Amino acid sequence: MAVSPTELLDIARTIALEAGELIARRRSEGVVVADTKSSSIDVVTFADRECEEFVKSRLAELRPEDGFYGEEGGDSTGTSGLTWIVDPIDGTVNYLYGIPQFAVSIAVVEGTPDPGTWKQLAGVVFNPMNDELYFASLGGGAFLTKAGMTSPLAVNQETLLAHTLLATGFAYSSELRAEQADVLTRILPAVRDIRRAGAASLDLCAVAAGQLDAYYERDTKPWDYAAGSLVLREAGGVVGGLDGAPEGREMLLATNTHLFSQIEKLLLS
Ligand code: IPD
Ligand code: CA
Ligand code: CA
Ligand code: CA
Repeated sequence: MAVSPTELLDIARTIALEAGELIARRRSEGVVVADTKSSSIDVVTFADRECEEFVKSRLAELRPEDGFYGEEGGDSTGTSGLTWIVDPIDGTVNYLYGIPQFAVSIAVVEGTPDPGTWKQLAGVVFNPMNDELYFASLGGGAFLTKAGMTSPLAVNQETLLAHTLLATGFAYSSELRAEQADVLTRILPAVRDIRRAGAASLDLCAVAAGQLDAYYERDTKPWDYAAGSLVLREAGGVVGGLDGAPEGREMLLATNTHLFSQIEKLLLS
């Protein structure tokens, strides 16, 4: 590979900052729902589409030979062996309601958008509302830039399930939600408390930053976690599915090395 993870990270950071500025501007102009997707509560706004188009076109200028895989459908196969995985607005429901917890998520992997085989090279998650830019490159550590200051990230070393602040999220499908509610009835009494902030990429970065001890969710897609899971891993965390499976649609669990198997057991019980 001629290009280094650090060079790819620089490109991801530049584009995430530009894209974040775009969605913040569109937000202040007023959000318009363009359509619904898997169900009536799974909305897509014109800003989701515009932002994905913007990121895609910037990448086409800077990395024309790479593939692209975005939530809003703008996929293309490249010739370089690298693929960019993009969630133009992670946390669209927060975006719609003006809750300042949404982000642009941009990752680049060697291979295809498959967590079983990909090699994550760089990832950036940018929340334009509080100017928080989380980023990581393979082997380079994980960092947060806020108000011009950059600091390294490290996961908490909590060992007790009973003291675990655990985040989760819920799918847009009502059938899956009923199952997720069942699982919660087992989990909630076992942990310190539960959070549902509404943006998977930021949940992963919050675990990386020690603002949460753990995060799990079912039915997430590669664009939700491709960047955030690298940030988490580079901050010393562990990400995976259940029973040794890679993270994926069945389950994504992100925490530290002490808590992973304890939470896994609960999710499997
Ligand atoms: C959603 C958010 C949410 C999570 C859902 C995701 P979107 O992404 O990350 O927190 O619970 O599973 O689909 O649709 O806002 O990009
Ligand atoms: Ca998402
Ligand atoms: Ca999205
Ligand atoms: Ca969406």
